Order: sequence, then structure tokens, then C-alpha cells
Amino acid sequence: MLQERIKQAVDCINNKLAVEKCQDALDDTNASVSKTLIKSLGASVVAPEKQAKIAIILGSGLGSLAGFIDVKQSWAYDELPGFLPSKMPGHAGRFVIGTLEGREIICLQGRIHGYEGHQAADIAFPVQVAHALGANTLIVTNAAGAINSNYKVGDIMLISDHINFTGCNPITLSAENSAAISADATSLDMTYAYTPALRNLAKEIAIKLDGFFMRANINLREGVYLGLRGPTFETPAEIRAFRSWGADAVGMSTVHEVLAASCLNMQVLGLSLLTNMAAGMVDKAITTSEVLDASAEYEKVFMSLLRAIVARMN
Ligand code: HPA
Repeated sequence: MLQERIKQAVDCINNKLAVEKCQDALDDTNASVSKTLIKSLGASVVAPEKQAKIAIILGSGLGSLAGFIDVKQSWAYDELPGFLPSKMPGHAGRFVIGTLEGREIICLQGRIHGYEGHQAADIAFPVQVAHALGANTLIVTNAAGAINSNYKVGDIMLISDHINFTGCNPITLSAENSAAISADATSLDMTYAYTPALRNLAKEIAIKLDGFFMRANINLREGVYLGLRGPTFETPAEIRAFRSWGADAVGMSTVHEVLAASCLNMQVLGLSLLTNMAAGMVDKAITTSEVLDASAEYEKVFMSLLRAIVARMN
């Protein structure tokens, strides 16, 4: 069932790409050829595209990376079968195929969330489609609240590990879904879910961008992300409890996407932009507009780091 749903989305995307390819070829060679011919050509005529290698999910207010992408094609999520539309502010809800820093990428510009009423499996679905289209690496970004009192707003946290406190997991080992996770039984392991080599690469690049980070007064951190369902922000008592569990940042996304990617043996890099101090750490209420304003203020350095990492990925 899941396999069939992924296949429908992949076939739809490949068909759209194939039609585009034919369109380009016809425009180049013979502008007078009837456009109806293009419609009669499908994925069976043009080999399916299987070249995208890095999938990138852009979190709240972090959609501006799209401006650096050389876009080949993009669609609103609701144009693709099996995808649910993203309705939240700061989440464009577009599936973008193109290149970034010379690398083939699939960019999920905005995400859907559990707090919109969606199931974990639906949240993870775009990652499974990106993988089926050839992505072997996932870069996941989000806006998060800082729990670690050494952190400050604007800092960027490399996610070293996560605590899934949503109560749900996108992976179900029903017979029909088992083909959607890797045949390798070790893929259920989460010990190395956040690929150590990619974290090292990010740290190496951050050292090179040191001047840039210093001028913007931003630090690169490395810590544990705790994901919960929302939509309410946490209570101060919850934040104190999460701190005692070892969480450094808190947010309402990411964990389901990473669970799905890890089960497909994808390499994963997670980056959180710390947009606010978590509840109770400062004497004021947290608002969504504060989160989006901080994303807008600090995303320039965040995007520079992200682009430099993509440029250096194997
Ligand atoms: N809590 C949960 N999610 C968030 C926060 C927060 O403080 N900031 C940004 N996303």
C-alpha cells in the first residue's frame, strides 16, 4: 500500500520531468512540432530520472534557500498524488527539483506537521518519495527553541541525536509496508541516524566560515533535538524535564522524517536554527511571529552554511 503510494508519486514526477524534457528538445530542434505530441510521450519513452542525490527539507521561515536553487521543475504538494498540502505560514509547500551548488537536489520547501492533524506516515512520505527518486542523503532543517542555557537565539545546532516525544513513528512493519524500508534489518537501528561524517563536514565548514559566524554573532552548536507534536509551545515545567533528559533544543518537526530516512539507510544531516529560548528560560511568552522573525534575521548565515555543506558533499 505504501509502496504503491510512493510509486504513484514517483511515476507522476517522472512523467512531468519527461514531458518537460521532450518539451525542451522540441523547442530546441523544431518549434513547429505539434505540442500535442509531447503529451503522448511519457515515462515509458524517456527513461525515468534517477539522478537527484540530496533531499533538503526547509523548516519554518527557512524557505529562502529556494532562491539559490537552479530550479528544473517545481510543484505545489497538492499537485502530486499522495502529498498533503502544507498550510502553515513560513511553509511554501513546494516540491522542487534542481541543482544547488552544482549538486542535484530535491528540495521540500516547507513541510506538513503533526499539529496540522497529519499522521507520522504522511509527514515522512515526501522523504520516501525523494529516496525513491534517487536521494541517498537527507538534510533536514528546522526552527527550534533553545533548552541548553549556554545557547542563544541565532545559534545553529547540528543535531547529534533526537528524542521522539510525539508518541508516533512513521514506520509500521505491516507486510505491505515492509518493502518501503530497507531490506537490511540493521536499518531499524537509530544509533547513527545523524550521520557522524556529515556532522564532521559541517563542523569543518563552520570553522572556515568562522569570520562570517563571528560577525553575525552566531555559534555552531551540537546537541540533542526533542521533537513533539505541538501546536502549543511547551510549559516551563516540561522544558525543565526535557533538559534533565539531555535535550538541548525543542521543536515540532524533524523526528518522523529522520526515522523514515534512517530506515532507508539514507545519510542524514540535521540543522536547527535556534529562534527563541524555550519556555520559562526568559520571562516572556513565545509567539510564532517571534520564531519567523528570528528565522528571517539569522537565515543568511544559516543558508551560507547549508550551501557550503552541499557544495562539499560527496
Ligand atoms: N518549541 C517548540 N517548537 C519550536 C520552538 C519552541 O520553543 N521554537 C521554534 N519551534
